[in-house]
Amino acid sequence: GLKTLTMIKPGAVKNRHIGAILNMIEEAGFRISAIKSLKLSKEDAENFYEEHKERPFFPELVDFMSSGPIVAAILLKENAVEDFRKLIGSTDPAEAEEGTIRKLFAESKAHNAIHGSDSDASAERECHFFFSSKELLERHP
Ligand code: GTP
Ligand code: MG
Repeated sequence: GLKTLTMIKPGAVKNRHIGAILNMIEEAGFRISAIKSLKLSKEDAENFYEEHKERPFFPELVDFMSSGPIVAAILLKENAVEDFRKLIGSTDPAEAEEGTIRKLFAESKAHNAIHGSDSDASAERECHFFFSSKELLERHP
């Protein structure tokens, strides 16, 4: 697919890594098609991560993701989902490759700096979660 959805998570925002992370994203060839900063409610975070609601870490995940502001963005590139997950690295920064966003900026597996959609279907759902139809227009040719 051509697009993916990212969130810069509360820890990376709090640690003032927004600029460095967006720079890495652009340098890697992604176009930032839509972007906003907002704070998720607990209910928002539960809905966004509903696929994980039976997991033992779900309450911790929801508390963390609603603990402070995030940056959500739609990123455009050929093969966006797969290429972006390569750029961010493994879920656990201890297992992430050198030079990946999580290796550089994650504090732990739970506080791992950034989200990337895991499939084209997830990307579609997640883009609609954050952005209106006007904001979803792909302005970059
Ligand atoms: P996302 O891009 O955030 O969806 O991460 P992911 O796709 O690499 O991982 P996954 O969807 O499996 O898990 C979602 C999020 O839950 C992860 O990014 C972590 O922040 C958190 N998470 C995953 N496993 C654990 C865990 O074992 N403990 C805790 N506390 N959090 C976890
Ligand atoms: Mg995931």
